[in-house]
Amino acid sequence: MKGFQGRIGVVTGAASGLGRAIAMALAAAGAKLLLIDRDEAALREVAARCTGAVAAAADVSDAARMEWAAAQGLRQLGPATMLVTAAGMLGPTMPAVDAPEADWDRVFAVNVKGTWLATKCFVPQMRQAGGGAIVTLASAAGLTGSAQLQAYSATKGAVVMFSRSLALAHGPEGIRVNCLCPGSIETPMLAATFDAAGDASARAARVEAFQARYPLRRFGRPEEVADAALFLLSDKASFLTGVCLPVDGGRLA
Ligand SMILES: NC(=O)c1ccc[n+]([C@@H]2O[C@H](COP(=O)([O-])OP(=O)(O)OC[C@H]3O[C@@H](n4cnc5c(N)ncnc54)[C@H](O)[C@@H]3O)[C@@H](O)[C@H]2O)c1
Repeated sequence: MKGFQGRIGVVTGAASGLGRAIAMALAAAGAKLLLIDRDEAALREVAARCTGAVAAAADVSDAARMEWAAAQGLRQLGPATMLVTAAGMLGPTMPAVDAPEADWDRVFAVNVKGTWLATKCFVPQMRQAGGGAIVTLASAAGLTGSAQLQAYSATKGAVVMFSRSLALAHGPEGIRVNCLCPGSIETPMLAATFDAAGDASARAARVEAFQARYPLRRFGRPEEVADAALFLLSDKASFLTGVCLPVDGGRLA
């Protein structure tokens, strides 16, 4: 997709998986990007492959560090008109009633507070620029429950409702907000989901069970989520806001 020349965007979680794929696709389409992730080494590698990108290592749950990152972007690139919030984590994989309190708090801090802080930092820049487009990353597990990932599912349900609320609040300012709800996409996070199943045969059984739920009988590729993100960020989606779009090979059909 072309048509992002001269546009300034922010991608959190840009060092890996979906954030990385979205950043690479946006940069290839001409956008100038502020890339944020807590994994500084991997972030620098991605930034080196995105022409004109600025890398800012930050934990998305750290308000002061996110404000610092936003200031870096504003100074070096100008006000952002696009934001993608892809930083996220799985959190506890045991039943929620057995999860340590700190693990429960952490997954909410990264997935929910991290999404909120990113919008808190960059919506003012969009207002300054006269409008913008936000794409949040929830999950199919934010639209339906997950027995394996109960805390994660709860955080993603929160991201779904926060995204819809943002769309209602900021539509009058010319800021569109849409949410992607991917199914299982081949990234390091998905691999971690399967690793949590146990030994090799338990892992293989979980892969098979997951795949059987997909009418397309396969998992998605990061580039397929990036295509959906770029569409929602583009002017082709100019009358779309408040949408929570499954990118899930028909899993939730
Ligand atoms: N892969 C999937 O199947 C899938 C499905 C649905 C939703 N998602 C969501 O998409 C997003 C990206 O997932 P992914 O599969 O690319 O995962 P990933 O683990 O490959 O990448 C996540 C990135 O976020 C970064 N990150 C994590 N915590 C952070 C923090 N506190 N501050 C800054 N950066 C942080 C990591 O360093 C990593 O670079 C997540 O929100 C995830 O929940 C993924």
